[in-house]
Amino acid sequence: MSGDARKTAEGLSYLSGFGNEHSSEAVPGALPEGRNSPQRAPLGLYAEQLSGTAFTEPRAHNRRSWLYRIRPSAAHPAFSRADNGLMRSAPFTETVPDPNRLRWNPLPEPAPGTDFLAGLWTLGGNGDATQRTGMAVHVYHANASMHRVFSDADGELLIVPERGGLLLRTEFGLLHVEPAEVALIPRGVRFRVELLDDSARGYVCENYGAPFRLPDLGPIGANGLANARDFRAPVAAYEDVEGPVEVVNKFCGNLWSTMYDHSPLDVVAWHGNHVPYVYDLRRFNVIGTISYDHPDPSIFTVLTSPSDTPGLAGVDFVVFAPRWLVGEDTFRPPYFHRNVMSEYMGLVEGAYDAKAEGFVPGGGSLHNMMSAHGPDRDTFDGASAAELAPRKIDDGLAFMFETRWPVTLTAHAARADHLQSGYDEVWQALERHFRPLH
Ligand SMILES: [Fe+2]
Repeated sequence: MSGDARKTAEGLSYLSGFGNEHSSEAVPGALPEGRNSPQRAPLGLYAEQLSGTAFTEPRAHNRRSWLYRIRPSAAHPAFSRADNGLMRSAPFTETVPDPNRLRWNPLPEPAPGTDFLAGLWTLGGNGDATQRTGMAVHVYHANASMHRVFSDADGELLIVPERGGLLLRTEFGLLHVEPAEVALIPRGVRFRVELLDDSARGYVCENYGAPFRLPDLGPIGANGLANARDFRAPVAAYEDVEGPVEVVNKFCGNLWSTMYDHSPLDVVAWHGNHVPYVYDLRRFNVIGTISYDHPDPSIFTVLTSPSDTPGLAGVDFVVFAPRWLVGEDTFRPPYFHRNVMSEYMGLVEGAYDAKAEGFVPGGGSLHNMMSAHGPDRDTFDGASAAELAPRKIDDGLAFMFETRWPVTLTAHAARADHLQSGYDEVWQALERHFRPLH
């Protein structure tokens, strides 16, 4: 089965560009011309609008799409509560916020038959899903393809695979995402995850706030960081399936389930800008110093979800991609710091240049608001003594979800067997070097 899925995934074509007014039809003539909601939509389809922002938000930030589908989404019986598994939502109240530096190993092997949804394990988060503020950090480990369909009314889902490729069958069409790429499923968009390998592992940022957008570039200019043209959206593809399909909806923190009598992935044509997409992190245009000092890591922002306060993100998605280090008379790894923002970091592959060991692919670290952190002793000693020749860092791909509020853990994250002990020792080993001149 995964062989067929992989063949499908590798044969996909895409639309390109971030935030574009895309349009696509799987059957010629399915997309109405010149209006959104004609008296009779073409080919006997139903027209339906999906709004990702309020109708009246500024044009530059407005997100909506028109879907032309075999049956309207409304054609379903009542939802009833489903088991949340290990998924939790904001507000996070199971534990008190923890000022300690924390680090986890990868999730253990899941039970056989664990699909992407069942394999989601919430680490923590902040804000309030019902207020559309804040975010949640999830990790996943799955070993089976979904047969059910999922949508998240609470926020958009930024999926960061670390192991195993995924085929995402969405209302808008199909997306293929592999480790070192990311996929985004917008709020409310229904999708199913099929595994392309024996198992799949990775991270998910659930963003309750404003949809991720590309950061402004200021003096950088018109190009750079994540370039808009490198984002890929699906072309329309639909399932014409009659028969029971379970649809799970995450709504205000809980999972709800219902049985459709047909596949809801039945969109034959669509247009709009509230669309899923994939992005290859290796295409990130990394900008850094060519003189001295390490710039603040905001220079590595791929996507940002702004808050109501200018310059303050609800959450930023930041990538530490392969890059050259050339700074003169500069401590080149990330500097020691205490940050009002809270930082969850994960590792997709290789190693991270501030941590010589203990931070492993599939694992993660949390440095909450104002917690002191930075390079470990080996990294500090090495970087302080290194000859400052130009050097390429190309042995790892790390990322960060950086958020405006502290991340409060779920109870299961706080007591997990794979929560490392002794992480503080990373910094306690740093020696005193102070030598007064007199
Ligand atoms: Fe940091």
